[in-house]
Amino acid sequence: MNVYDSSRLVALLETEGWKETDDLQSASMYILNTCSIREKASEKVFSFLGRLQKEKERAKKRLKTPIFIGVVGCVAKDQSDNIFKRAPYVDFVLDSQSYHKIFDFLKGPTEKFIKTNLPSLEKFDVLPKIKKTPASAQITIQEGCDHNCTYCVVPFTRGREISRPFTDIINEINHVVSLGAKEIVLLGQNVNGYQFKADNKIYRIYDIIKNIAKNPKVSRVRYVSAHPLEMTDDLISLYDGSIKCMLPHLHLPLQAGSNRTLKRMNRGYTKEDYFKIVEKLKIVSPDIKFSTDLIVGFPGESEEEFLETLEMVKQINFITSFSFIYSARDHTPALKLADDIDYSTKLDRLNRLQSALTKIQTNFNLGQKNTKITVFIEDDAIDKNFMLGRSIYMQTVLISKTDSLVDTIIIGKIYIVEITRSTPNNLYGKII
Ligand code: 5AD
Ligand code: SF4
Repeated sequence: MNVYDSSRLVALLETEGWKETDDLQSASMYILNTCSIREKASEKVFSFLGRLQKEKERAKKRLKTPIFIGVVGCVAKDQSDNIFKRAPYVDFVLDSQSYHKIFDFLKGPTEKFIKTNLPSLEKFDVLPKIKKTPASAQITIQEGCDHNCTYCVVPFTRGREISRPFTDIINEINHVVSLGAKEIVLLGQNVNGYQFKADNKIYRIYDIIKNIAKNPKVSRVRYVSAHPLEMTDDLISLYDGSIKCMLPHLHLPLQAGSNRTLKRMNRGYTKEDYFKIVEKLKIVSPDIKFSTDLIVGFPGESEEEFLETLEMVKQINFITSFSFIYSARDHTPALKLADDIDYSTKLDRLNRLQSALTKIQTNFNLGQKNTKITVFIEDDAIDKNFMLGRSIYMQTVLISKTDSLVDTIIIGKIYIVEITRSTPNNLYGKII
């Protein structure tokens, strides 16, 4: 979502003549769009700010214009006062609901500026449309979260759930498609909880996807992050193969496989409920695969409870996953619980979990060697000899330019690719 927000912020600044640059040394404003989901992400902001302070000092000598450093996004909300204390050279702080207030700072007195807003859709109306799009375009459809998982800072940083008007979303999708987007990624902290009332009807994510499916220029649609409790039957029915842009893959955060832990996390479901959703989806879409998010070392998690998570991971066979050590966050209910598991135990659990997950992923990737699969070309790869693509299961596919049987590989197109090699994280292949 920060990538999406940054692109809209860039579009806004461009209206006043600002230009985006990759070159730190020539910049006269640095904006850090930040994440506070875990302590590590949050701390990275402060270490990077230290680096920017030096750049600012250097640039001051070189450039005649004032140099600004701004911190925006979730750390701006979570640590607003702390930022000026720890990094007094920061000039402005804007939370993720307030990006559009940047001109109030730039046009006003250039003293320390801080703006944190209540949840609102105002920014979506004010931020101008983007002018260029990647082949895979991200669109925020809702922000904030009412699930109140006890470990999570999102309800504080992004606020209560708020869904954008259905027609605004469809217009934005049509706009990015007219700019060349071929894949649409719907974004929201509780994306499948999207709900918008208009004309005596409640629009849900189902309606958005149905609408996208009518556009022949869109070849794929995805959404992140989904909550298991919001996997309603209408949404599940979209996986039945009748909609060509729906993929047989779902990222469905599980977080933990023990009912006691799930309860204390306030996830609102049991492991049996989760299995039921998986079964329902498998009936509709027998080829469907799942990926997930997991947390180890939540306060009070016993070894037995951890083993339940490990067991569940093997049963569901998650083909990719993001797993984290619990990180105590300010403004979260879990902060009241004793963070009672020592770090070495947490690390040991993470290692055991990740090695099980890697095993599944490696086997899954290996199974695709010497097969032909459909791949969406997302972009150039970092290694100039390859293009970066995605399988229907969201595996990274690196496609050799020299071995492929086409002269040019077009970004945004779907090709049949023969997989020649697999590694735990990537597939390698050539277009045939
Ligand atoms: N500690 C560790 N992981 C967390 N996540 C969210 N909050 C925390 C936390 N306090 C993880 C969850 C979520 C993902 C985006 O980040 O797994 O799904
Ligand atoms: Fe945070 Fe996701 Fe829980 Fe919402 S559903 S509180 S965003 S972990």
